[in-house]
Amino acid sequence: MTKYLITSALPYINGIKHLGNLVGSMLPADVYSRFLRQSGENVLFICATDEHGTPAELAALEKNQDVETFCTEQHEIQKNIYSRFNLSFDQFGRSSSEHNLHLTQHMCKKLMENGFIEERIIKQVYSIDDGRFLPDRYIVGTCPHCGYEAARGDQCENCTRVLDPTDLKNPRSAVSGSDRLEIKDSKHLFLKLPMLEKELEKFIDEHEAEWPIVVTSIARKWLKEGLRERCITRDLKWGIPVPCDGYDGKVFYVWFDAPIEYIGATAEWADKDPETRNYKNWWYDTKDVRYVEFMAKDNIPFHTIMFPATLLGVREPWKKVDYIKGFNWLTFYGGKFSTSQKRGIFTNQALDEFESDYWRYWLMANAPENSDSSFTFDGFASMINKDLNDVLGNFVNRVLKMTASKMGARVPEKFELQDIDKLFIENLSKRISTYTRCLKDLEFRKALVELRAIWTEGNNYLTEAAPWTVIKTDKNRASTILNLAINIIRLYAVLSAPVIPATSEKMMSLLQIEKPDYFWPKEGKLFEELSKLSVGKEFSVPENPLFQKITQDRIDELCEKYGASV
Ligand code: 2FM
Ligand code: ZN
Repeated sequence: MTKYLITSALPYINGIKHLGNLVGSMLPADVYSRFLRQSGENVLFICATDEHGTPAELAALEKNQDVETFCTEQHEIQKNIYSRFNLSFDQFGRSSSEHNLHLTQHMCKKLMENGFIEERIIKQVYSIDDGRFLPDRYIVGTCPHCGYEAARGDQCENCTRVLDPTDLKNPRSAVSGSDRLEIKDSKHLFLKLPMLEKELEKFIDEHEAEWPIVVTSIARKWLKEGLRERCITRDLKWGIPVPCDGYDGKVFYVWFDAPIEYIGATAEWADKDPETRNYKNWWYDTKDVRYVEFMAKDNIPFHTIMFPATLLGVREPWKKVDYIKGFNWLTFYGGKFSTSQKRGIFTNQALDEFESDYWRYWLMANAPENSDSSFTFDGFASMINKDLNDVLGNFVNRVLKMTASKMGARVPEKFELQDIDKLFIENLSKRISTYTRCLKDLEFRKALVELRAIWTEGNNYLTEAAPWTVIKTDKNRASTILNLAINIIRLYAVLSAPVIPATSEKMMSLLQIEKPDYFWPKEGKLFEELSKLSVGKEFSVPENPLFQKITQDRIDELCEKYGASV
């Protein structure tokens, strides 16, 4: 049986992520993992914090913390936020783990043995007073274009122009402010990508037909431009040490070790139960694993070229990706969400405003799959009010309240089904097939259109069958309609669980189902599925609606608070 290995791009450790980061990898990966688990598949869902590199060092410096303490703290903060979003990782690891260190060093040694690495001497800026080399963004100075005094060596934040550190006027160290800088020679390791070009082309060719266009077009662009040797080491203290003579004080480039942490985090997961788990069963010489990666489009070159190049070059049978789900950008009122400019809504703020399912639902319904999509509070409120309140919430509320008031809070008896019931079940069955196919194909927006239609079918059925009128003349008939409707609530909880798991749990608890199984309905078996609740079983009457409406006042308040303008 196929096992599913799912990885989400690793969020950087340098600060709390925004909603764009969430919908670009972790959230869809979670929805997919949950759906597969509910379908009875063997799933391993892996993520971790990406902890190395200059951004981590700089962020720690800004907080006046040593980088290790900073990473440990930030890892816990991010982990906690993701658990509040109900992201069901099997492992949320850390790229600074021992496993990643050993695996990364191992990969490098193998690449060297196989002739895919060369040493080169390059010129680097050295700060005499800091006693260290400075990466481009650690050098600050005046922008030659706009005169901004705190421009970084790689880019001016003010005019956004890309810079070279030597362009800056009055260059100085961002670490100490010292201007005693000099250019020194420093040796580094380069991955000889051109030697692997043919193999990489073959790798992309093999997947071209299946992968989304956003993924293959970016990979092809890189290949077409011709691959260059890439420097995989840095003059930094924080990172994975380069295990070669003469490389003291040098570490691997963060993009070399980050994807290897997918394997490292799997090994961390296996450590928790070594008797039954082995990371190699997922990663090494496997024939039964389907490996699916989720990421935003800026990560695609690293996952289609760089990481596969590493895995190909080591000449060992490491598992390579089978399918890449790439995402475009989520924008905030048409502009970029930006961590550095603190623009948009951050994941912690989002949870302070609304429960996680509000966000999960909106983000998945508007996932930037084929093009960018834009967040606005109006659009968000309108969708939550219509779909979650008026359709799903209203159905659950109506059915349970009416049944309780007319017949008592127990699943009522079911008598013979009429044509209208059968037609409803048939329609539902077709929609569930489409929904299931969309989820299998990772077509999330289409899947959510179908999920909403599945909920709407329930409301339409109730309006047509009108148990509140029927009850006046035919109690048995009303009882049958409500029996079916209560069974539908259970079915909706199952079908909605990949997207809005907390609400599904609430629905199951209203039905007093203590250990819900959430098994995905089998094709063609809907009648059985809708007879699962035994007649007479007690349920609880909702005290509050499942969702709260978002009022215009609230929208205005949120726009004001987050600086949103149309
Ligand atoms: O773009 C990012 O946020 C990176 N931290 C993603 C790394 S993905 C992986 F390869 F580790
Ligand atoms: Zn500038």
